[in-house]
Amino acid sequence: MTEIFYGGDYNPEQWPETVWHEDVKLMQEAGVNLVSVAIFAWSKLEPEEGRYDFGWLDRLLDLLHRHGVGVCLATATAAPPPWLARTYPQSLPVTAQGVRLGVGSRQQYSPSSPDYKRLAAKLVREIATRYKDHPALKLWHVNNEYGCHVSESFDDNSAQAFRVWLRERYGTVEALNEAWGTSFWSQAYGAWDEVTPPAAAPTFLNPTQQLDWRRFCSDALLSLYRMEREILRNITPGIPATTNFIGVHKPLDEWRWAQELDVVSNDAYPDPGAYDAGIYAAFQSDMMRSLKAGAPWILMEQAPNQVQWRARNSLKPPGVMRLWSLQAVARGARGVMFFQWRQSKAGAEKFHSAMVPHAGAEGRTWREVRDLGQELRQLGEVLKSRVQAEAAIVFDWETWWALELDARPSADVRYLEQVYSYYAALWHRNVTVDFVKPDADLSPYKLVLVPNLYLVKDEAAANLERYTEAGGTLALSFFSGIVDENDQVRLGGYPAPFRKLLGLSVEEFDALPVGVTHTVRGEQEFSADLWADVIALEGAEPLATFTEGFYARRPAVTQHSFGKGKSFYLGTRLDGAGMAWLLEKACQTAGVDTTTNLPEGVEAVRRVSDGAGYLTLLNHTDKSVQVELSEAATDLAQGETQVGELTLPPYGVTFLRLQQPAAGTAPTPVKGAKLD
Ligand code: GAL
Repeated sequence: MTEIFYGGDYNPEQWPETVWHEDVKLMQEAGVNLVSVAIFAWSKLEPEEGRYDFGWLDRLLDLLHRHGVGVCLATATAAPPPWLARTYPQSLPVTAQGVRLGVGSRQQYSPSSPDYKRLAAKLVREIATRYKDHPALKLWHVNNEYGCHVSESFDDNSAQAFRVWLRERYGTVEALNEAWGTSFWSQAYGAWDEVTPPAAAPTFLNPTQQLDWRRFCSDALLSLYRMEREILRNITPGIPATTNFIGVHKPLDEWRWAQELDVVSNDAYPDPGAYDAGIYAAFQSDMMRSLKAGAPWILMEQAPNQVQWRARNSLKPPGVMRLWSLQAVARGARGVMFFQWRQSKAGAEKFHSAMVPHAGAEGRTWREVRDLGQELRQLGEVLKSRVQAEAAIVFDWETWWALELDARPSADVRYLEQVYSYYAALWHRNVTVDFVKPDADLSPYKLVLVPNLYLVKDEAAANLERYTEAGGTLALSFFSGIVDENDQVRLGGYPAPFRKLLGLSVEEFDALPVGVTHTVRGEQEFSADLWADVIALEGAEPLATFTEGFYARRPAVTQHSFGKGKSFYLGTRLDGAGMAWLLEKACQTAGVDTTTNLPEGVEAVRRVSDGAGYLTLLNHTDKSVQVELSEAATDLAQGETQVGELTLPPYGVTFLRLQQPAAGTAPTPVKGAKLD
């Protein structure tokens, strides 16, 4: 495995065949070796029910193969053709308000529609049987971005499937009543057919019903994936299958999903107009790598330049597309792909950039695309190494869902924002992290961060306690350990399962109004907002205290020795400087290496293999910077040895092979740096 996949979504059905011949020549010029084909081609492949037209796809696959381009062949089930809705109107999805969605865009199917499932399965079988021996076929692209537009449907079939799902989970209506706490507000169910999805209702719906609905919706989509994958596995056991995630996406429990994928793939569209887009891109990449315990993943889609779907669509300045592409490789990707190959002439995506713009093979976007394809050919050896992380962040979809239900102390506590605030603080210290499930084996990590683990299962709570007791360093933040998997409060004082581990209890929690900040004082003063825990110490020592209100002088941040380990607790939301202070402290306690002597905005990612160490340096600023290397290193793209001071141009990236690899340890090859 030393070839990095390079290419993108290819929608030749939008073009006359004469254009295809130009396409393959340009693909060769750009070093394209993989294209995703037929993602939205159902209506072209099956223009009416049961009548298939594969002639064009036969010719296309042959043409691609003759030009050395592999195919990630889609199952074409993401956009059902209009005839399907006309013949089977019940297959269309229904919103919580009871509106049935129609044709004219895409993804208009209810995940629980038997008609959709039957027709999709039939199409997949036809495609797989036809192309099973085609030499261009490298990978299956199942559906597309499950849950992108329609992640839930309130149609009758979904209601029925929800009840089946609940029956499997609970066995009896009594058990469901118990789990959902239906003694409240006269909600007790007497029979399964009384139970409904949480559609529009007079006021707050039962939280456990909502939580189970989220679980069900993720599973309903997953069962569609499984259905297609089983067909593909039977017909082409040797061809791996994937489906593209939309980054860290709320509707899909990606931990569960990743178990079913042969390879994880992701679509990443950081907003070039956002100041921290590069950090958010790194966050997504680290999640993709973590979903399958470090296995290489594919960046399946990104924009070569601007998108068309934001209200204001910023360009990627020169170099940024390369920067974010190589960042993905540094963080574990084995493929760099785009949406899409040739910019559409018609349709809703005609102002979305593409590898070949409207002008054809000219201009900056094309040149950057072509040059990157050539460069990636020099970087293949990186694939033999693995990203190394000493720290982990616990991430959990069920907590995400439960934490953001209605009727909580504060509607402003957003899970992703909280997790990201930890991630960004570590990114600035060049600490690479893995993401882990709450019940994962944490022993490989020196430091484990647990933002807002509101919902926690018994095994997970015990896992975190064991990890710390055995000598780990753990940092946990407010509103954690509050409920069990049924969203029922864990009694005995908050945060009941973590009181021993943290050496404290939380007597009350205050939700701060928008715009209100508190000053928190410790070694330094920081500003805090959003939330304030009223903490009673039970062995922990305060690191910082609130200075205002009736809980002035009470702890806001604490630390505690537990067994052989140490725990930190954060009872509020700290500003950036406060997070930097806390995480530096946690890293020092844990012995996690931080690299803070790089210029601001320069990212360092380390990788190791048996025989070598690698360092990628990425300059996210629009200024040229100097970095001084403490040891000689080889620039992989240029093949040149670098010693001493190295210049990174604006948005520049360099992949370095270190001369003295220290196998199994994270090298610290950066001595110092200055901005020019
Ligand atoms: C993705 C989708 C692609 C294309 C792209 C545009 O969400 O999978 O088909 O629509 O967005 O950015």
